[in-house]
Order: sequence, then C-alpha cells, then structure tokens
Amino acid sequence: MTLTETDPLDTRLAAPGSEWWRTAVIYQIYPRSFSDSSGDGVGDLPGITSRLDDLAELGVDALWLSPFQRSPQKDAGYDVSDYCDVDPLFGTLADFDEMLAQAHERSIRIIVDLVPNHSSDQHAWFQEALAAAPGSRERARYLFRDGKGLDGDVPPNNWESVFGGPAWTRVIEADGTLGQWYLHLFDSSQPDFDWSNEEVRTEFRRVLRFWLDRGVDGFRVDVAHGLMKADGLPDFTPDPEAGSMGGDADDVPYWGQDGVHEIYRDWHRLVAEYSGDRALCAEAWLPSAEKTARWVRPDEMHQAFNFAYLETPWDAAALRTVVTDSLRIYGAVGAPSTWVLSNHDVVRHASRLALTAENPQGHGIGPTSPGKPVPDLGLRRARAATTLMLALPGSAYLYQGEELGLPEVIELDDDARQDPTWFRTGGERYGRDGCRVPIPWSSDAPAYGFSSTGASWLPQPAEWATLARDAQLVDGASTLSLYRTLLAARRARGLGSGDVEWLEGFGDDVIAFRNGTITVVANAGDAPVALPDGIVIASSGPIPGGALPADTAVWLADY
Ligand code: NOJ
Repeated sequence: MTLTETDPLDTRLAAPGSEWWRTAVIYQIYPRSFSDSSGDGVGDLPGITSRLDDLAELGVDALWLSPFQRSPQKDAGYDVSDYCDVDPLFGTLADFDEMLAQAHERSIRIIVDLVPNHSSDQHAWFQEALAAAPGSRERARYLFRDGKGLDGDVPPNNWESVFGGPAWTRVIEADGTLGQWYLHLFDSSQPDFDWSNEEVRTEFRRVLRFWLDRGVDGFRVDVAHGLMKADGLPDFTPDPEAGSMGGDADDVPYWGQDGVHEIYRDWHRLVAEYSGDRALCAEAWLPSAEKTARWVRPDEMHQAFNFAYLETPWDAAALRTVVTDSLRIYGAVGAPSTWVLSNHDVVRHASRLALTAENPQGHGIGPTSPGKPVPDLGLRRARAATTLMLALPGSAYLYQGEELGLPEVIELDDDARQDPTWFRTGGERYGRDGCRVPIPWSSDAPAYGFSSTGASWLPQPAEWATLARDAQLVDGASTLSLYRTLLAARRARGLGSGDVEWLEGFGDDVIAFRNGTITVVANAGDAPVALPDGIVIASSGPIPGGALPADTAVWLADY
C-alpha cells in the first residue's frame, strides 16, 4: 500500500525546510514492553493499536517502533531473521498494516527500525553460509575469515564485541571439522554483514522498499556507524578513556568508516522517490557532534540521535554548550538537531541524572552497583530536564514510560535478566533490562494493565502502581500531566521551528533562553532563582514564592 493524497496525513512533499521530521516529537515504542493484547507477557502490535488514542492524547507526532520483525529474540529483536515479516510474538503483517492505518488516521507517523549491520544467525542467508564452503558466494555476504595460528584456532583479529567477549565465533564446517570464524560486533547470534558486497546492498534496497510501499514514514537505522569495516580488518585496542566508542571514530576500524556515507546517499535517493517526506534517522554513536553531522549532510540521512545531549550531565554550563554546539553544527549542514534523554539502551533519565558514580553506557545498574541514584532527586531532575528539552527547536525523541517518570528498575533478580550483555560479561555488567520493564497503564489491573493475564516478560516493581497512567491522568501535578502540557504548548507555539536566544543575568547554574513567545528558565544549582515576569504555562515542580527552586524548570509566556 503506498500513501495517496487521500491519506489522512498530508503526504505531499513539504516545502524544503518545513518537512515534518524537522520539528516532530517522536515517541519510541519498545514493542515487547508497551502493551500486550495476547496475554503472553510480551507486548504486540494489536496492543499498540489499542493505545493509539492515548498516544494521540499525549500529543506526539510520530512513533518509532523498535524491531517487531521475525527474530529469535536473542537481542530483543535486534537479531532479525526475516526483515520483511512480523514475528508471531508481535502479530502479523495485517496487524502492522492496521496499526499503521490507525496511526495515520490520528495524524501519527510511523518509523520502523532497520537493522542493517547484522542479521540473526537464524537468517536464511547465514544458515546458507554455514552450509556452504569457505570462499563461497554464501559466505561472502558475511565476514567469514580463517583463524590465525597453526590450527586456525586464534581469532582473525583482536576485536571485542560491544556486549563483551571476543567479536569472533568459530564455526563447525559441514564435514564436522573446526572451521572459519565469523565477525559479530554484538552477540554471537548477530553475524555482521559484509557491506562491501553488492548483494547485501541490493537486498537492503528491497527491504527499504518493502516497508516504504506499506506506507511507513521513515526508518531508525541501527548501528548506522558500523556497516563498513576498515580494509584488512586490522587489530584495534579500544582506549578505556575514550567513552563508548573506544577511540576517535577515525581510528576505530569498525566505527565511522567513510564508506558508510555512500550507502546512506543511495538510501536517501531511494527514500526520496516516495511521497510524504519519509525520513532516515541514524543511530550512530560517534565521539562528537562534528562527526555525527557527517551522517546528516543534505544528501544523506535526515537526522541523527544527539547522543552528546543525552550524555550531558545536569550541569548548566555543559547544557548551554551542548545546545549551542548542536544547533550550530547540525544547522551548518542544514539538518535539525535532535534531542533525546532516554531510550532502550541507557539508564532511564529519571535515575541517570541522580547517579553518583560513573556508569558507562550499556553497563546498566543493579543491586550491587555503586552510586545508586537518589529516587526523588532523579525524578525532579528528569522533569526539569524534559521541560528544558521540549522547549528546544528541532526534533525530540521520547522513550515510552518517561512520560510517567519511570525510574530504572534496579532490583531485578539475576535469573530474570535477559540482556545478552549480562550473559556475555558473566554478570559483570547488568545491561539494559532495567529500562525495558513493561510499562504500567492501570494501578489496579494485573501487570498494571500491560497484559490482561498479569504476565510480564520482566517483573514490574510493586511501586509502579502509583505511577500507572490512569493514576497520573487524574493528577494535575503528575509527570504525565506535565508532558501533556509541554507537548500541547510546544505544538501550539511552534517551538520546534523556533530559535534559542540565550538570556544572561541568572547566574552560572541557570540555563535561560527565549524561544518565540516563551522564556525558559532551568535551575541546575542549589539556590532558588528569582524569575522574570511572565505567565507560568508549564513548570516541572512547585515554584513557592515566585522563586524557582533547585532542579526545577519553567516555561513563562508573555501571553
Ligand atoms: C543498538 C540497539 O539500540 C541495541 O538495542 C542493540 O542491542 C544494538 N544496536 C545491536 O543491534
């Protein structure tokens, strides 16, 4: 089904510069944990459809769905075995079409996840590769190499998997002997494709068209910095001081290689053949905004997650710098900046902003982690941080459950954990399960309304009864009410297409700026701050006596 002019969304091409994705608020659905209509404890597509009215009421412009395609679920769907089908766990293609049509009815766009760096080891191509001989066309779709050493029992290079342990696994050949190794930057169930192979490129063009023809509005591209590897796959030892990249993108032989850009130029042209300003968004963990901006040059992707913003601590000077730099650097290539505070890979910001110890991305927090967050402080800061973020021009990403102020779940039993990170590091890193716990809808229902049977693939904490959506809907001071107010005012006042004009005179610990008709003041210090005149249209917390308390942010309007 292609979109036509009778589609409820205006799908004709917008004037350059006014495309919907430049200013949209995009809500991430993690399908496993959103809403379960079948009662098996895992969320599904009909579950999403049943909640579209709630999302429309929240006031978001688009949904990004983490993978629901066919997958053995070794990495919660980021291990795809068939890119053009829905996993039975989540429903059928007909369920997808229904969900998309219903979303469009409500003027909500749909972005799907595309996982091009690797497939599942259960993908037909990988199974064919295992059955075929070294040097075959089937093996050439992936990165198979001979091992080193006399018996070939040393991996082809020293690369490590992002989830811990070596990035190579040795196969048993058809004749039963130990054979070649294949590369997997993530779990051993996720073999990397060889993107220098034209057959891989052709296949992904087919996958893009499959979903575009069904009417999707765009793709979030997984590991968009990883597709090309340096010639010869040279050894590389990550610098532990260099953050999640392990080095500057220019010298890491598996991240940020120049060859990726020609792939995205090709996809840009393909996507542009379709009406409706379909968009490509890069998930690219790169060491700087300057590097990331190369993914969103005018003929490449349309936007990229602003991970520099996500990683910025609750600190006024650091926030002013990252906002200024982001607007300047992305603006220089004609792309909107994006803003994001939480997703399914990071500690939820209602906890992260109150951590008191270093917590590298992807490590997660659990019962024995040092520097656990102070819950009330985390929520206060999260609400303030979101109030600040939603006033910024550009496109903002929200992660399901943050509108309820959900914290990271820390007290998960070891035997409940499912993230491959937990297994591949022998429990040394907790991983990401704590931000993936199914979200609460109704205080009194089984599984807090997530599923009718009470089943939930990760256990939900008892305290979540009070955080359920129905309880927050009737509380004007709730986090949900705050998000609804912010989103409505952002839309009504066109903040997404505005500008930031910094305001001085509030002190070093305050972030203050004008965007159109509103003044935003956020207090990241300890002392209350006197506010200028204005009508309070949104506030992340009480403002006793007209002075903005610590860890609070406000929007003031002239009218
Ligand atoms: C990034 C995804 O967001 C994450 O969840 C996944 O594990 C890796 N890419 C591998 O696909």
